[in-house]
Amino acid sequence: MRHLMNPLDFSVEELDRLFDLANDIEKNMGKYAHACEGKKLATCFYEPSTRTRLSFESAMLNLGGSVIGFSDANSSSASKGESVSDTIRVISCFADICAMRHPKEGAPMVAASRSSIPVINAGDGGHQHPTQTLTDLLTIRSLKGRLNNFTIGLCGDLKFGRTVHSLINALVRYEGIKFIFISPEELKVPDYITDMLKEKNIPYEEVIRLEDTMPELDLLYMTRVQRERFFNEEDYVRLKDFYILDKAKMELAKPDMMVLHPLPRVNEISVEVDDDPRAAYFKQVQYGVYVRMALILTLLETDTDSLT
Ligand code: CP
Repeated sequence: MRHLMNPLDFSVEELDRLFDLANDIEKNMGKYAHACEGKKLATCFYEPSTRTRLSFESAMLNLGGSVIGFSDANSSSASKGESVSDTIRVISCFADICAMRHPKEGAPMVAASRSSIPVINAGDGGHQHPTQTLTDLLTIRSLKGRLNNFTIGLCGDLKFGRTVHSLINALVRYEGIKFIFISPEELKVPDYITDMLKEKNIPYEEVIRLEDTMPELDLLYMTRVQRERFFNEEDYVRLKDFYILDKAKMELAKPDMMVLHPLPRVNEISVEVDDDPRAAYFKQVQYGVYVRMALILTLLETDTDSLT
């Protein structure tokens, strides 16, 4: 039995197979409509979510399965003091696979160690968000045709943004990637990430101004300032509008630069950018459903070759 805690849990070859499956699902949705009949997904979300929870639920329903779960820790027995270990043992009696989001780093890992069903980390604190990374990689591969030889700018809250940490971890396995980290001093990418890049001899730069670096980028990954992880509101208010991607900044970019964002967006991308053909963040949401369908099929060890 396999779990997904970190994008590195899958080899590059396994990811390729997963993305091939996701692209086949995109083209032949009907073929997969009954693939998980009789199976149940539990979504255990101890933190708010729109995309991740609903795209997991949509993915399972598209596969003919059903969904149970909770979307708020206060409506679960966690509010009475039940541990994650006990909760997953209980959920294992009800469901075939579980997607868990938790504010504490490592909580889904604890759940996986006590679980008799596959557990998927749907975001743990400021640590990792592997299914967002699968979504990001599938979007890039599908729209650009490759996952190598890019200069990627990651902009915004690089300190607390778990999607950023997961994506960097995943991209270092591909050739010819250069990272440009664009953030205010207070929200710089953690040292453990820059140490890892130095160790692997992967080029990166850390800059403050987005405008200066726009012409160089093949991909721009915008992120929101993570209000829920700040210790005081004053710092959040000071930093929240540090970057706003607007039409004027987009004019500095390459004609085929792609803008990604894990969403939700607050102010960091002006709505006037939404109609720019380079804005890929809503397509990204759709790819999230395909890749979660592929992931559920893979972790449930479904024989997809026998589907017609
Ligand atoms: N991208 C993402 O994780 O969105 P939600 O918080 O809405 O799930």
